[in-house]
Amino acid sequence: MAAEIKELLKEHGTKKIGEVQLAQVYQGMRGITGLVTETSLLDAQEGIRFRGYTIPELQQKLPKAENGSEPLPEGLFYLMLVGELPSEDDVHHLTSVWQRRSHVPNHVFATIEALPVSTHPMTQFVVAVMALQTESLFAKRYAAGMNKKDYWDPAFDDAMDLIARLPRIAAYIYRRKYKNGEHIQPNGLLDWAGNFAHMMGYGDESFIELMRLYMTIHADHEGGNVSAHTTHLVGSALSDPYLSYAAGMNGLAGPLHGLANQEVIKWIFEMREELKTEAPSKEQIGNYVRATLEKGKVVPGYGHAVLRKTDPRFTAQMEFGKKHMPDDPLVQTVWNIYEAVPPILKSLGKIKNPWPNVDAHSGALLVHFGMVEYEFYTVLFAVSRALGVLASLCWDRALSFPIERPKSITTALVKRWLKGEDEIWGD
Ligand SMILES: CC(C)(COP(=O)(O)OP(=O)(O)OC[C@H]1O[C@@H](n2cnc3c(N)ncnc32)[C@H](O)[C@@H]1OP(=O)(O)O)[C@@H](O)C(=O)NCCC(=O)NCCS
Repeated sequence: MAAEIKELLKEHGTKKIGEVQLAQVYQGMRGITGLVTETSLLDAQEGIRFRGYTIPELQQKLPKAENGSEPLPEGLFYLMLVGELPSEDDVHHLTSVWQRRSHVPNHVFATIEALPVSTHPMTQFVVAVMALQTESLFAKRYAAGMNKKDYWDPAFDDAMDLIARLPRIAAYIYRRKYKNGEHIQPNGLLDWAGNFAHMMGYGDESFIELMRLYMTIHADHEGGNVSAHTTHLVGSALSDPYLSYAAGMNGLAGPLHGLANQEVIKWIFEMREELKTEAPSKEQIGNYVRATLEKGKVVPGYGHAVLRKTDPRFTAQMEFGKKHMPDDPLVQTVWNIYEAVPPILKSLGKIKNPWPNVDAHSGALLVHFGMVEYEFYTVLFAVSRALGVLASLCWDRALSFPIERPKSITTALVKRWLKGEDEIWGD
């Protein structure tokens, strides 16, 4: 792959792939192509494809647990990393490798315990990942002196270890914060997502299926989103996978990114309280949406920087809801919001995508099974996101991607440039 890219750049390296307008530089670099991420690609109209496969295709083609119908996230990781669909054996192998590598040293739990229980679960999670950085093989081998060509090797080991250990850490935080610190030991016979559900205290088969689906659909969303881009950016400084992933997850903890899933359910709970009903009508929802907008707030779970249609990750969760809990009033409210919100957002004229994203649905499914602690939802997202960003990081090191360093400018320079008194150089 590295040789192929070298050849490709030798022949076509000077080809232009776009022009940059001044507004794009000020507006979050939207629409500027500036990154290579092999694991997935987002199409504005049809949504995410992982190595070419849509979510419905993955649901069909990836191996499942015995008696299960949702894909095992192990299979998606294999697909993103290797680029080919795994066999049943490949997936079972990965399950057992992650089981073997899942030991979390005691100092990590002690570090979590040093924080007040009231600390946001995402803060506890990232602090724990930082404490786990003591285990980084990449950092050790780099310090000992490593040939550039070998970077991918300990990066891969760190990625595998970290993914294997994250469910234990996340479940520990959940039980610590919400279940009086009554922890549940891992079950070595379960798959990665199943064991995660078990350690959080959820044994229901449908919940385990939900975790498999959840861990699959939240794993990756091409490379430019805040969590993926940050992991890649920090990794480009040759910070090890623990440091890079922790950095990315600090971005996921922002309300415009991964924290939106907690915002959605909070917003729905507040709406139900204000309207004094568990099942608000579409008209009531419409009025509440308008009131939210009048207060200068965003409608959480709606809109996207790249997507221009209903997020297929929303649709996959809606299908899950129809199969497992069609009569749940909260889930039905999510579906009514789906009918009420887009026309209102469209009528404002400025919102580029009035359709729901992944976060609009996830909380209601979790609440159905009793997981009402919405501050924890972003941690679930973070565990899943590890699959994509760490598979990508392995490729970053394998392909020897250099340190990332775009050029920035000042408004004073822009003004001089507009008057023809100065130049803006791309270097
Ligand atoms: C996801 C999001 C950050 C994308 O931002 P973006 O690319 O700047 O979106 P747009 O270009 O459509 O924004 C244009 C305008 O519409 C507003 N807008 C976008 N989505 C909105 C929403 N759901 N509710 C209200 N206003 C919204 C923006 O705030 C912006 O307003 P401004 O010009 O007054 O600053 C944005 O849609 C949002 O804040 N959504 C709610 C939070 C959320 O669900 N995040 C999870 C994303 S997966």
